[in-house]
Amino acid sequence: MPLSRLMIQQFRNIKACDISLSSGFNFLIGANGSGKTSVLEAIYMLGHGRSFKSSLTGRVIQNECQELFVHGRFLNPDQIEIPVGINKQRDGTVEVKIGGQSGQKLAQLAQVLPLQLIHPEGFELLTDGPKQRRAFIDWGVFHSVAAFFDAWGRFRRLNKQRNALLKTATDYRELKYWDAELSHLAEQIDAWRADYVAQIKPVAEALCQSFLPEFEIQLQYYRGWEKETLYQTLLERNFERDKMLGYTFSGPNKADLRIKVNGTPVEDVLSRGQLKLMVCALRVAQGQHLTSLTGKQCIYLIDDFASELDSERRKRLADCLKATGAQVFVSSITRDQVDDMCMSDSKLFHVEQGRIEQG
Ligand SMILES: Nc1ncnc2c1ncn2[C@@H]1O[C@H](COP(=O)(O)OP(=O)(O)OP(=O)(O)O)[C@@H](O)[C@H]1O
Ligand SMILES: [Mg+2]
Repeated sequence: MPLSRLMIQQFRNIKACDISLSSGFNFLIGANGSGKTSVLEAIYMLGHGRSFKSSLTGRVIQNECQELFVHGRFLNPDQIEIPVGINKQRDGTVEVKIGGQSGQKLAQLAQVLPLQLIHPEGFELLTDGPKQRRAFIDWGVFHSVAAFFDAWGRFRRLNKQRNALLKTATDYRELKYWDAELSHLAEQIDAWRADYVAQIKPVAEALCQSFLPEFEIQLQYYRGWEKETLYQTLLERNFERDKMLGYTFSGPNKADLRIKVNGTPVEDVLSRGQLKLMVCALRVAQGQHLTSLTGKQCIYLIDDFASELDSERRKRLADCLKATGAQVFVSSITRDQVDDMCMSDSKLFHVEQGRIEQG
């Protein structure tokens, strides 16, 4: 669902900004340190409630200021403008407004503004541990299964309680009661994730293949514990080991999306540019799948568009994004790197020392 307007206040080096947006491509052009990534960070905060660069709100709020604001208007499927906003203060207070109503939850923001971020460190999705790939799967499940958010939250709380109990328990029977509910949630979460990966797999593999035709790419879901074993049976069997470790070793909190290229883990085969292309393919595939499943369009945030990609690969990515019909924000240091992406409905913004002006 595209944003038609964006207002940012006291966010990094942006004192105040109020811009009308294109529901197609929006380009942010400016020198190093001018504030391009900060604009994308602000949009990301509107959809996720947090920054993608820092977990400390104090770093994001403008120096010498007490609070930041990001407000936007998005167009709902009936083309009606709905205001959304987030206010964060140095003392940790967060206020979310949707449709003029205060006291809304961050998850509701995420629901109305699905976002996909592609940034220069994004290849960590493929090269780092499973946490980010789990987040990738869960983004899809969150947007397609309404009950997932609560179930995952409950699982994490119960898992924490179990880990605390493990430290004092002397007999498995002390955990059995907790494990029954934990297992029920684990099996449910696993079923949703497996189902989502089965749906996204053909779309993602085909798009990865079209971006990197020289490789054969395979995605495989790993649920976090061995196949064909009930989670409750596994917990009982591993009680002594988990007790020794002081935490529950296996489970949905260890799930992963394993990605191989010609049968070898991606990070051992692909160059940095190729890794970036693959991340783009995975993120765009996820957005396309969301649209086909729910009719919702996600917003793409592409930071430092030109980095790592040659002109041919940039064109391939741009064409693919155009074909989605989604709203796209692209940051770039120079205009010539995005010139051939401009269309009649695109908007270009110059960013200079925290000021954003339409060019
Ligand atoms: N809390 C803050 N208050 C004020 N200014 C800040 C704060 N945090 C960061 N900055 C400044 O804001 C600017 C943020 O720049 P940003 O990362 O958005 O630049 P950019 O245009 O993306 O640059 P690059 O092309 O190098 O990626 C930097 O100049 C930084 O020093
Ligand atoms: Mg930047």
